[in-house]
Amino acid sequence: MGIKVGIIGCGSIARYRHAPEYKANPHVGEIIFYDRNPERAEVLAKEFGGRAVKTVEELLGDPSIIAISDCSSNEAHHINTTNALLCGKHVLCEKPLAINVKYAEKILDAQRKSGKKLMVDHNQRFTKAHQKAKEILDKKELGEVLTFKTTFGHQGPESWGVNKSNSTWFFKKERSHSGVAGDLGIHKIDLIHYLLDDEIEEVHSFYAALDKVDGNGNPIEVCDNVVCACKTKKGRLGTASFSWTYYGSEDNSTIIYCQKGVLKIYHDSDAQLVIEKRDGTIVKYELESIQTNDNQTNTGVVDAFIDSIMNNVKPLVTGEQAVASLRVVEKLLDA
Ligand SMILES: NC(=O)c1ccc[n+]([C@@H]2O[C@H](COP(=O)([O-])OP(=O)(O)OC[C@H]3O[C@@H](n4cnc5c(N)ncnc54)[C@H](O)[C@@H]3O)[C@@H](O)[C@H]2O)c1
Repeated sequence: MGIKVGIIGCGSIARYRHAPEYKANPHVGEIIFYDRNPERAEVLAKEFGGRAVKTVEELLGDPSIIAISDCSSNEAHHINTTNALLCGKHVLCEKPLAINVKYAEKILDAQRKSGKKLMVDHNQRFTKAHQKAKEILDKKELGEVLTFKTTFGHQGPESWGVNKSNSTWFFKKERSHSGVAGDLGIHKIDLIHYLLDDEIEEVHSFYAALDKVDGNGNPIEVCDNVVCACKTKKGRLGTASFSWTYYGSEDNSTIIYCQKGVLKIYHDSDAQLVIEKRDGTIVKYELESIQTNDNQTNTGVVDAFIDSIMNNVKPLVTGEQAVASLRVVEKLLDA
């Protein structure tokens, strides 16, 4: 039979990641779709062989549905995820966990009250190159981490979301809140925290809306570019750039500089992880290429979420960790 899961918000991330990953998971029996735009729920129900419901209450009030993916836009997460937890559902919430730390803390309160699992979709941790890098760093094969440089940039979300135009919610202050910082930046902030087993404590940044325009041709209300310098709790120094205006191929690269060498991740086009040792040795790992908007493969996040429910173990990305990354986004935007 398998368990029943619900998806709130039937746009692009639901269509390209959550729905196919639930469908492929052997423990999942049925997917129930809800979107406040009912046609979108119907479309995904047809495409993935599930069922669409017309109201969120039908989803949250159904005791046979035990888990929910919150794939709504940023401003709705603290409402949908909180309600789902308080209705006794396990929740996989999209990033950013909320539009600010205050709302995210309310989600954590609901999680503690409910005793249900809360996982956040910081999927960068799960890629093979990042997993391998984590293994090398944890074993201290290159000694201690000293500095880092991370980047995440692509052509922008107006060609990704279900509304493929400049009137997208991603460009609106009250819905996205943090622009490219909360869209792409938060992925790399979480990745640095994870890889380094550390937390960015201080951040100095510049950010701006350099090029994107909204549906009326005016500069967007949120930033399309961020550059920043960071210091971690353990004293590591790093730089980070996040952009919606890289009008060539996507840049998803991270370089970690250690005492005995350098790790270059998604930097070289043939080898996803390159280790340059201080003694001159070079080791190249050819692992799978990262998921991009044009290359959708199983991220492993839904499998990990279902696994945490079935085996009653702590989710691999916790709400507390997601709040730590959101805190850095708030700091860098000086919110
Ligand atoms: N983890 C990742 O790699 C990744 C990638 C892209 C997007 N995201 C995140 O996923 C979320 C959704 O992004 P998307 O790209 O799918 O956007 P989208 O615009 O394509 O889809 C969002 C959908 O949510 C629906 N929606 C909005 N508010 C709702 C509400 N209150 N109740 C019900 N439905 C509601 C909209 O009608 C729309 O169909 C965002 O938080 C985004 O940051 C994560």
